[in-house]
Formats: sequence, C-alpha cells, structure tokens
Amino acid sequence: MSDVQEATNQLLDVNLHENQRSIQVTESGLRSESEHLQVTIGATVPTGFEQTAADEVREKLGSPCKISKDRGKIYFDISVESLAQVHCLRSVDNLFVVVQEFKDYQFKETKEEVLKDFEDLAGKLPWSDPLKIWKINTCFKKKKTKHKKINQNSSKQKIESGQGDKTDERDVKKEFTNNVLDSQILDYYENAAIKEEISTLVGDDLTSCKDETEESSKEETDPEVLKFRVTCNRAGEKHCFSSNEAARDFGGAVQDYFKWKADMTNFDVEVLLNIHDNEIVVGIALTEESLHRRNITHFGPTTLRSTLAYGMLRLCAPQPTDIIVDPMCGTGAISIEGATEWSNCYHIAGDNNPLAVNRAANNISSLLTKSQVKEGKLSWGLPIDTIQWDICNLPLRTGSVDIIVTDMPFGKRMGSKKRNWNLYPACLREMSRVCRPGTGQAVLLTQDKKCFIKALSGMGHLWRKVHTVWVNIGGLHAAVYLLKRTPQTFVHPSEQDGERSPW
Ligand SMILES: C[S@@+](CC[C@H](N)C(=O)[O-])C[C@H]1O[C@@H](n2cnc3c(N)ncnc32)[C@H](O)[C@@H]1O
Repeated sequence: MSDVQEATNQLLDVNLHENQRSIQVTESGLRSESEHLQVTIGATVPTGFEQTAADEVREKLGSPCKISKDRGKIYFDISVESLAQVHCLRSVDNLFVVVQEFKDYQFKETKEEVLKDFEDLAGKLPWSDPLKIWKINTCFKKKKTKHKKINQNSSKQKIESGQGDKTDERDVKKEFTNNVLDSQILDYYENAAIKEEISTLVGDDLTSCKDETEESSKEETDPEVLKFRVTCNRAGEKHCFSSNEAARDFGGAVQDYFKWKADMTNFDVEVLLNIHDNEIVVGIALTEESLHRRNITHFGPTTLRSTLAYGMLRLCAPQPTDIIVDPMCGTGAISIEGATEWSNCYHIAGDNNPLAVNRAANNISSLLTKSQVKEGKLSWGLPIDTIQWDICNLPLRTGSVDIIVTDMPFGKRMGSKKRNWNLYPACLREMSRVCRPGTGQAVLLTQDKKCFIKALSGMGHLWRKVHTVWVNIGGLHAAVYLLKRTPQTFVHPSEQDGERSPW
C-alpha cells in the first residue's frame, strides 16, 4: 500500500462525530460512503499559470481540469482517496472543495432581493459531501502559525454567557456586519496574489488576545460547536451589492442553518462565496495556509512564490541530468524548488549580493534540516549549489548550461529602471554564451518589459522568443518569457577582436 493510500485509510478512521445538520451519519456509514466519494476541487494558482497547473493535475492525478474564466483558478474532480495527493501539487496555492457552482446566476434587480436570495441559498446547497471532505481533510491540512489575539468577538462572549444557541437573526447579522472587513477588502480579488496578501494581513490584525491555553480549555468545554467564517470574493462591474453585504447575509443564513458560531479569525470552517460576474461558486476551504509557503525560511525583499517558481521551471520541461541555473537567485526560491521537484537535475543558484547568497544557503540548510527531522535519518543533501557572481561575467564554460530560469530585477523594489538599460542586454549576452546552442532554454521573469524587449531585439541571432506568460506579481503586470537558444555559436566581443576567451 502506498504512503498516500495508507494516510487516506487512516483518515477515514478519524472520529467523525459532529453535531452538524447535514452530516449526521454514523462513523462506519461515513467511512463506507466516503470511500466512493467524488468531489470537485477548486484551486487558486498564480495568474497566467492556469494551464501549467492543469497539466500538473492531469499528470499526477489523472484528472482533466477546467480552467475558470475567473483568472487564477482551476477545477478538477477527484475521489477522496486522492485528497492527500492534491495537497502535494506544486503549482497550486489554495484549495477548496466545491459545494455548488452556478454558471449563469440570475441576479435580481434590487440589492434587497439579491441579498434575500443569498440568505435563501444557504439552506438549499448540497453541503453533505463537501463537509465530509472537509472533515477528512483536517488531517492533511498544514496548520497556520497561530498569532496572539487582540480582542474577542461577540460570538464567544455569548457562548461564554450561555446565550450561544439562542442567537437570533438580528444578532447574526450584527455579528457579520462587525466582522466583514476582510471580505470587503477582498473586492480586489481579481488578483489572486493581492487577495492572499490582504487575507493574511487582516488575519494578523484581527487575531484575538486569547492565548493558546485559554483557547484549548474553551474548546474542551464546547467541543461540538464549529466555528466558521464566510469569505466573499467578488469581481465584476454589474453587481448592486458589495462583497461585504453578500458575506454578511449569506453568512448569517449559514449560521442559522448549521447553528455554527461565527469567528472571523479562529474558525474551523471557512465558507467561500466566489462571485465573478454571473458565475458563483460556493466552496469550503481546504487550506489554511497557502501551499506556496513551503521552501523559504529566510526571506528577501522580493522573494518569489514557490508555486510561481515551479510554473517557470515547468515551462522548459527539465530532463534528467540537465544543468539548471538561476543567475540572479535572491533567496534561491527557483533553484530550491527545482532541486526538490527535479532532483535528477543539477541546480546552481548565484547572485552578486552576498546577503542574497547567504539567504539562499540558509534556505537550503533549513530545508535539509526539516527533511532530516521528518525522515529521522541523515539526508544526502539536495542537488544544488550557491555561489556569489556577477551575471555579466559568469564563471561557467561556454555552452555548458541547459536551462536558465531567473527573476530579473524589476527596477522597482530591486535595482532601477535606468540600470536595467545596461543590465538587461549584458545579462542576455552572457546567458547566450553559457547556454547550449540549439537546445538551451531560458525562462525570464520581468516587469520591465520595454527594456527587456529592446535588449532582446538586439540578440535575435542568439535567442528566439517562443512563448510569453502574463503574470500578476503583487499587483504588478509582469511577463515570463520562454526563450530558445538558437544554434548560432556565441562569439565573444574580445574574440571578434582576435583575442580568446578564457572560458
Ligand atoms: C528580483 S530579485 C530575485 C528574487 C528571487 N527570485 C527570490 O525569490 O528571492 C533579483 C536579484 O538579482 C540580483 N542581481 C542584480 N544584479 C545582479 C548581477 N549583476 N549579478 C547577479 N545578480 C544580480 C539581486 O541581488 C537580486 O537578488
């Protein structure tokens, strides 16, 4: 039996006694039902890399994917046995199980009518299977680091004063009005990157001051009542309501239906109400912390998400024994992702800033320690080295590198646009020297597209642009260029003058 199968079987054995309306089934009943459970999983992915994520899902889970109109999302069907594997995907940020999808939702004319429909919807949705998946998933889910809390919400106070079960509709609405700050901000949802940063920020700001001990004793006295929140992500011009209002009214109805407690920061269940123009998807979150937070412990000023690093590496389909270089590595995010996922290749991470090289080395070291602790044995290491160098003069032999994957200074937080006018042509020239003619590839991320295209236009004999992926990096519109090295031999300027290159 595989590790994943074993883990899944154990999970089906977890105690499933829940005082929940829609999953009042016995443990054995749930076990046998769950064995054949088929559900639709939604995943947020770095915008622009939807196809890459779909390819990974098809390759690793054998499931075809639907790429959403709403950028940065994919959907695929799985059976419960594959749930552990879903958490091992490298291209996805957050996961949720779909409760129901409305492809062409007909919004009523007035705000009051629309909000009333949201209230009515809560009681009509097919919650049962998604909640079983949510329950099984709790064992797979990576826990978010808990923060100190600054205030308690009224739901907890009510429970503590014995009023918890008698919450009336007015209280429920008030509760949601007081706590929808995050969903309001999530109106910016179009950009998955922004959405996630804001969610995290709100979580940090609103966490209550109760400490862990107090929290666990509370859970002991009141174990069966689930805490939940609703997050509404809305995108579209034609809505007569805000995400804030939708979350409040839908959330109030969910609370009435399940008799759960609303808790915006310390919740067990996060219900998602995703609205994109006329499309609505109701889901239940399966990740507490984005899956991109996996490799990096020592952050730099412009650390790249591991999921994006994976997408960039995958664009050039690395083959065993390939030599893959990130010549401007920063924290080493790209090379580290490469070394963990393509361990049959050799990865080199370099940077001209000694602080960056240090961070990359520390990140590799933390990852090795983590895997040693997990596996309980000495690790043989990762196929990766770090080095301090200047990209304009790399200590590498001509034609020795198969793939270059790098995240270039945008000229905003890192470097300057003015400096890029010199740096970019020099980078491209040196990369064309070290890259293998005819088969070499480069995947380069930049927001300074004008400067990049200008630099590339002077090197058409050495590089051919085959594909561009448009991505959103923290709200900045950036491009990932896939270049192929032409068969033309590199001729160093000094050789043109009759001198020989030392490499
Ligand atoms: C956008 S950052 C890369 C961030 C990295 N992907 C990460 O996840 O941390 C660009 C990097 O290029 C490096 N850099 C700038 N000029 C360089 C040069 N001439 N040679 C090598 N590295 C350079 C900077 O020090 C910086 O770390």
